[in-house]
Amino acid sequence: MTSPVTPTFIATDIELIKEADGILAIFVPEAGTLDATAKRANRLSRGAVARLVDSDGFSKLEEGKGKMLAFPINMEAEGVVVIKLSRRPDVSAARKAGATLAKMAGGKPVMALCGNLRRAEEVALGFALRAYDFDDHFTKDSEAPGAVTFMVNDLPKVTEAAEANGAIADGVFFTRDLVNEPANVLTTTEFADRLVALKKLGVAVKVLEEDELEKLGMGSLLCVGQGSVSPSKVVVMEWMGGEKGDAPFALVGKGVVFDTGGISLKPAGGMEDMTMDMGGAGVVAGVMKTLAARKAKSNVVGLVGLVENMPSGNAVRPGDVVTSMKGDTIEVINTDAEGRLVLADVLWYAQEQYKPLGMINLATLTGAIIIGLGHENAGVFSNNDALANAFLKAAGAEEEGAWRMPMGKAYDDQLKSRLADMKNVGGRPAGSITAAQFLERFVKPETPWIHLDIAGVAALKTESDFAPKGATGWGVRALNRLIADNFEEPQG
Ligand code: BES
Ligand code: MN
Ligand code: ZN
Repeated sequence: MTSPVTPTFIATDIELIKEADGILAIFVPEAGTLDATAKRANRLSRGAVARLVDSDGFSKLEEGKGKMLAFPINMEAEGVVVIKLSRRPDVSAARKAGATLAKMAGGKPVMALCGNLRRAEEVALGFALRAYDFDDHFTKDSEAPGAVTFMVNDLPKVTEAAEANGAIADGVFFTRDLVNEPANVLTTTEFADRLVALKKLGVAVKVLEEDELEKLGMGSLLCVGQGSVSPSKVVVMEWMGGEKGDAPFALVGKGVVFDTGGISLKPAGGMEDMTMDMGGAGVVAGVMKTLAARKAKSNVVGLVGLVENMPSGNAVRPGDVVTSMKGDTIEVINTDAEGRLVLADVLWYAQEQYKPLGMINLATLTGAIIIGLGHENAGVFSNNDALANAFLKAAGAEEEGAWRMPMGKAYDDQLKSRLADMKNVGGRPAGSITAAQFLERFVKPETPWIHLDIAGVAALKTESDFAPKGATGWGVRALNRLIADNFEEPQG
């Protein structure tokens, strides 16, 4: 992301409409009634806006979609985008309208005439999320996107709401940048450095290096990175914006900066996608950034295990037995089932260190979850119905797909090993569930816990409503909302 789009807000001034360059946007409800600013655009264009709104094409549009009036007369703008949107849209419709506008404007300057439209700040968030573009590695300077201005009647009220949404966009962009970055750039060290930079926002950041991880007994996590020249690290981020002394909520992320599979090497085709195998850690980082940026009144600690899974003369072998920080021994059957080995130790450390009142881990953990749920839903595995339901509600409100999966003893039995306390794979049946069972062995029964398998949703080959191809930032909005609605003192 070279230059993120940050919408600015100004008070409605009808005189500015004629001179605005690039794209002018207006929002017209189903009934086709024009507000004062749209009427002004209509008069300037000698009725062309009204003719578009009366057309068959416009009446057939879904809410949130738009039509372009090209080269209108009597104004500077090269196009007027007319978007169908109720004057009091819900959050979802408002954000979709913003995303539509971003796509149609294609980087040109935008003046959006919102007048009394409710939720203009949500239109702006939808715009910013969809306008994101990761172009850091093109040598030719791509043109910086034009300024995006939202003209609103009640400027103070919209500005306040827009600030919280700006914090969400910042977090989502942080996640996407990390996930999109190639693995030769985003090494474990570079990843840790980018997290340390959160100190600027008031996050306390601590980096645990290999010698400390060894002292802590993290033999499970450490075996994964032992074949790589990049040192393994655990980064701990504390945002303590709530009551002093209150137990925090914990977020834990899988941060495999590249997953070759190790000695159980993956096939060559598509292996380049494994740069996104740090997606769980990326989401944890993004949520921490959002919480800090909006100064959330909650205590949240984010922990990520950063490793690279490489084959080499030092790499862990299939058949090796390692000892976790918890003390349980693990027979490594498949070195490509490495994410759970990383998380086992970080989950244990999080509970020992913080006694969190709840814990959610995120991981691009299994290919099997993509077979089961495709790219529409993350898998939700939990030992606690109340927490799981609260998460599903938050994800639903943010339209981030999430689907609860079963767990149980019969699945856990698949992890029995011939010579150690467990093995790291449970065979082909129910591969995502046995991975979750493995993690649950490192969760204390008293800790309400969710495991989110985000292998199918962290990055996409096609564009989606709110993101171009590549990293989506799935989960940042849902987790931010979960925390805001359940683990935060009322603001103000
Ligand atoms: N990082 C992969 C899972 C993955 C697959 C993420 C596709 C994103 C897209 C994980 O470490 C892995 O390799 N899992 C194995 C587990 C198996 C060896 C039990 C898998 O899913 O094949
Ligand atoms: Mn793997
Ligand atoms: Zn992996």
